[in-house]
Amino acid sequence: MGNNIQAPRGTYDVLPDQSAKWQEIEAKIIELCRLYQYKEIRTPIFEHTELFQRGVGDTTDIVTKEMYTFKDRGDRSLTLRPEGTASVVRSFVENKLFGLPDQPVKLFYTGPMFRYERPQAGRMRQFVQFGVEAIGSKDPAIDAEVISLAMELYASLGLKRLRLVINSLGDTESRIAHKEALVAHFAPRINEFCNDCQTRLEKNPLRILDCKVDRDHPLMATAPSLADYLNEESQAYFTEVKGYIEELGIDYVVDPNLVRGLDYYNHTAFEIMSDAEGFGAITTLCGGGRYNGLVEDLGGPEAPGIGFAMSIERLLLALQMEEVEIGSSDALGVYVIAMDESAKKQAFRIVKDLRANGISADMDYTGRKLKAQMKSADRKGAEYVIVIGETELANGKAALKEMATGGQQEVLFADIAAEIKNKKSLEE
Ligand code: HAM
Repeated sequence: MGNNIQAPRGTYDVLPDQSAKWQEIEAKIIELCRLYQYKEIRTPIFEHTELFQRGVGDTTDIVTKEMYTFKDRGDRSLTLRPEGTASVVRSFVENKLFGLPDQPVKLFYTGPMFRYERPQAGRMRQFVQFGVEAIGSKDPAIDAEVISLAMELYASLGLKRLRLVINSLGDTESRIAHKEALVAHFAPRINEFCNDCQTRLEKNPLRILDCKVDRDHPLMATAPSLADYLNEESQAYFTEVKGYIEELGIDYVVDPNLVRGLDYYNHTAFEIMSDAEGFGAITTLCGGGRYNGLVEDLGGPEAPGIGFAMSIERLLLALQMEEVEIGSSDALGVYVIAMDESAKKQAFRIVKDLRANGISADMDYTGRKLKAQMKSADRKGAEYVIVIGETELANGKAALKEMATGGQQEVLFADIAAEIKNKKSLEE
C-alpha cells in the first residue's frame, strides 16, 4: 500500500464536483415519493447475520459469497446490509406496522449497501440503493404502481433508452411443480456440472439457471421454463399486472428467463435495463418483484409485499451514457471582487447581503489580484460579477456584470440583491 492509505477496493469518494448530481437525484426521489405517498424509513446499516440468511436466502450468491460479516465485541454475528428489503420487512414486523389502519404500508429508503463482489463499472462493494417497498397488499395494481415509480424517476431525470422486462415467478404451487421438473431435467447429468450446481440441485435447482460457469451446457437451453408451470391463479394475476402496466402507458417485454438473484420472490419480477450505447456488461439499472410470504418467514402475519431497488451509481452511469447533464443547482450566483484591501469590507458586506436574500455569493479569500479573481469567477461559473474599487467605494455603487451576455448596469450597493432578484423573476 505504500505510505498513502487509499479507499478500500470497490469503494470511492463522491467529490465536491459530483455531489450536486447526487443531491439532485435525492431531491427527485423525495419529490416523487411524496407524489406517490411512499414514506421514508431508515434502518440500521448492520443487522444480525441471520436476518439475511433467512430473508435473502442462504443459497443465494449474496449470502454465500458476498456478505461483509463480522463478530462484534459481544461475539454477535453481524452483517453490513447487502440490500434493503430484509431490513425493511424486519422493521415492519418488529414495529408492528401491519397494525396500522392504512395498508399497504408504502415505504422508501436510500442508503449504502455492501456486497463483496468483483468491482467493475456499475458494480461496487459499497453502493447506494434507492428502494421502495409496499407491504400489505396483493392487488396487482400496486405492482404496476411500484414499477411506474421506478420508470418515472428515470424519465424525470431525462433518461430515454429504457427497457422494462417483466416475468411471473408464480406462486408456491407453481414453483414446486417447476422445481420438480428442473430436478428431473438436470439430475441424470448433474455430474457434468460444477460443484455449486450439484449442491443447487438439492437446495435450489432454480439457481442452476443463473450459473456463470455452466451457462453453455446444452441442458441449460432446454431446461423447463417456469412459464409452462404457472397455475391458473398465477397466470391470472400476471395478466392483471400487465393490464395495469398497459393502463399507465408503459411499454414492457416479457422475459420468461428473468429469475432474479434473491430467494424471496414470487409472482411479479421485473428489471429495468438501459439500452444506451457504450454501456458495459452490466445493463440492469433496477430490479424488483413481489415477495408474498417474506413477512411471515420473518415472524410476522400474512402481509404480501412488492418493491424494487436501484443503485444511484448505475443511474449516474446511464445519465453519462445518454449524455444527460444534471446537477447545476449548486452554481454560483454572484462573485464579488475587491480590487484592494480597502474595498474588501464592502465586498464582504455585499456577499453577506446577497446570501441573506437567498442568492449564492462568494469572494476571494487568498488575496489574489483582479485578473486571477476574474478567472476564478469564470471557473466557478458565476452568473454575475461585481468589482469594488476606489471609485465604487466613493460612489456607493458598482457595475453588475452579467457574465453570459457581458451586459453591465450601475447599481447602488444597497440595491444589488433586489436588482438580481428582479432580473431572475423576469427570466422566469
Ligand atoms: P438486486 O437486484 O440485488 O435487488 O439489486 C437491485 C439493484 O441494486 C440493481 O439493479 C443495481 O441497480 C443495484 N446494485 C446491486 N448490486 C450492486 C453493486 N454491487 N454495485 C452497484 N449497484 C448494485 C435487491 O437488492 C432487492 N432488495 C430489490 C427489491 C426491493 N426487491 C423487492 N424490493
